[in-house]
Formats: sequence, C-alpha cells, structure tokens
Amino acid sequence: MTINTAGSQTATFLDLEEKYGAHNYHPLPVVLNKGQGVFLWDLEGKQYFDFLSGYSAVNQGHCHPRIIAALVKQAQKLTLTSRAFHNNLLGEYCKYITGYFGYDKVLPMNTGVEGGETAIKLARKWGYINKGIAENKAKIIFAEHNFWGRTLAAISSSTDPDSYTNFGPYMPGFELVPYNNLAQLERALQDKNAAAFMVEPIQGEAGVVIPDDGYLKGVRKLCDEHNVLFIADEIQTGLCRTGKMLACDHENVRPDILILGKALSGGVLPVSAVLADDEIMLNLKPGEHGSTYGGNPLACAVAMEALQVLKDEKMAENAEEMGQLLRSELENLQSPVLQIVRGKGLLNAIVVNHTDPNAAWCLCLELMKHGLLAKPTHGDKIRFAPPLIITKEQILDCVQIIKQSLKILE
Ligand SMILES: Cc1ncc(COP(=O)(O)O)c(C=O)c1O
Repeated sequence: MTINTAGSQTATFLDLEEKYGAHNYHPLPVVLNKGQGVFLWDLEGKQYFDFLSGYSAVNQGHCHPRIIAALVKQAQKLTLTSRAFHNNLLGEYCKYITGYFGYDKVLPMNTGVEGGETAIKLARKWGYINKGIAENKAKIIFAEHNFWGRTLAAISSSTDPDSYTNFGPYMPGFELVPYNNLAQLERALQDKNAAAFMVEPIQGEAGVVIPDDGYLKGVRKLCDEHNVLFIADEIQTGLCRTGKMLACDHENVRPDILILGKALSGGVLPVSAVLADDEIMLNLKPGEHGSTYGGNPLACAVAMEALQVLKDEKMAENAEEMGQLLRSELENLQSPVLQIVRGKGLLNAIVVNHTDPNAAWCLCLELMKHGLLAKPTHGDKIRFAPPLIITKEQILDCVQIIKQSLKILE
C-alpha cells in the first residue's frame, strides 16, 4: 500500500528531505508540526496518537508545560558555558540526580550512545586500576541483539548486519553472549580480563524482548561473584517506561553503572547521564573525558524538571496500569494477525503474523490513516509505546483504531 501525497504540502516536505537529506532513515510519510501530550498533528491539522514517543524520549508527553517552562526560563539566562568554567546549575543537578537514583556521582553527556561510550570507558579504566587487568586486555561483554546506538564502538558490539556491514574495522575487546542466558554469561565472566557486562534490562530495539524473571538478579549475582561490573543501559527502559522508575527495579537490582538518556529531557534536547559510585567514577581524571555540551545549564534545568515531573505525576504507576490494560485489550481482540502481544508497562510490541513480509509496514500505514502513529522494527514487530500520561479512555480509543486497522491484513 502506498499513500498518495502528490500535490499536497506533505509531498513538498518529503521531497526536500529526500533531495537534500541523507537517506539513513525510512520514516512513515507523515510531516508533523505540532505535539501536545499524547498527540501529534500533521501539516493538514490531522491529529494522531503518538505510539512511539520518540523511541521513549517523550515519556512525559509532548511539550510538557513544566519542562518547556524550565527550558524557556533557563534559555533566557544562560545556555552553555562549556566545562572550562563552572555554571550555577551543574552542581545542583548533580546533587539532585545522584540523590534521585542513589549513586555517589554522575557524569553528564548528551546522547544515549555517548552515555554508552562513557560507561565502557569507565569500566575499562576500573578494570585496569581496580581489577588489575593487564594493559589493553580489558573485555566488555554484551548481549546478542543489543542496541545502544550508531557510533563505531556501538556497531562493533552489534549482531545486526544493517548496523555493522561495511563499517569495519571494529572495536576490539568486545564479546557477545546470548541474551537471557546466565550459563553462557557465567562462562564469559570467568575470563580474568572481563571488566563489565553491559545489558538492556529489556531489549528495546530488538523488539521489546523481556528476559525471564530472575535474569537481572542472576546477572547481578554473577557479576559480584566474578568481580565484573554490571552496566545497565536504561536509556529506553528507564524513567518509568516499564512501570517502575528503572526496569532494574522490577527485580530490585542495582547496577554498578547506570546509563540514562532519552526521557531525561522529556524529548526537549539531548541529555544523557552515567551514574556510578566513587570507586568507579573517580578513576576519571581531568582531561580524560568530556563533551562541550555535557552538563550545560540548559540541560541541567530541563533534566531536573523532567525527572521531577515523572514523580509528581506518578508516571510509573500510570505506565504499569495502562500497560496492563493495553495488553489485555489487544489480547481480547483475538486477531489471527496479532501473533504475540508482549511488554512491560508502556513498553510494548506486537508481532505481526502474516505471509506478506511488508505486513507490519502496511499495518503502520493503516494505523496512520486512522490516527495512530507507530513504527515497525525488524520487519514483523511494531512497538506500542505511547507517552506515559495516556488515560484509560485514550487507550480504549487506540485499541479501537488498532482493531479497525487490523482488518486490512485479516
Ligand atoms: C537501549 C538504548 N541505548 C542507547 C540508545 C542510543 O541513544 P541515542 O540515539 O540517543 O544515541 C538507544 C536508542 O534507541 C537505546 O534504545
């Protein structure tokens, strides 16, 4: 199915991107110019439910009034000093976020992938200094089907050929184990050069893959037994998305290094953070790591408000409740096309059962037609991850849209 946009304003914008922008994305043919709460609007004023939330960056809803107010207030005063000088918000932010998550220190960065890079540098340094790993021998273990971004290090740990093909040579010192497999993890951790295991508590980009109950507890235990750091990539799963503040909270485990991003700014600007205790963080000395924008006062003001809003508006509780409602309503549809409905909180995915390999894409176009925006991942999966402020009535409206749209495949 194709959408006929010829002659419309939409076509003009699609053409501009096509002609002058790199072709590294394949978006749905919709041009958005407004967002508020759970809704987005296109150029023609058509309203949509947002079921992607900017890949979980917009947990608090589009243009949350308190986050935008914090942004505007700070933007009129001071936006960037670089870390060559101090600014009056960085210290306050560091105190706020370390208290919020219970770590000694934070290292502020911008994008999620920079958070991952930072965590790995910290783990390597800890490996050499604290664990006594021989020079340049440190190993970082990852789970297969991980996704943590697009830098050369991130693609070096990827098992997705689209991510890594023709971008070699790759970063050495990385090793893969199957996700959700403690026996294989233990084998890898026995290596005296293992410095860290970096893992998503739920694999987001892989299609919302939830490990068995007890996996994270098992990871914690094995990392302790073998003196290996546990790095939790909570960039997508964290900040109330799965029905708890962190996905690790479902099993009451505390990672040694916690990486946050995306919703740390409520979708307003790139803000990421790496949290750890002194034993790990104080290995980094002046001049050894940083970023021009990391810890800028605008980001600090926005992040504090974005975090406070999550708590004040009880977004974890709402994500848990609305997630259960969404999954049970989708299961009640008993559609032969919905092969699997899975998720935790409001991080959900459906697996589309159809002979047409383009079925998930076709379904997304149909959903768009009926006023709901979602995007396929890995061919047959579609993520359903609305902003965490969605109400019961809105979930029920969305289920009706999904039911209506599924007819195109049935
Ligand atoms: C789990 C996880 N880690 C890291 C990243 C990378 O974040 P960014 O795109 O901000 O670099 C993503 C992005 O989707 C992610 O889902």
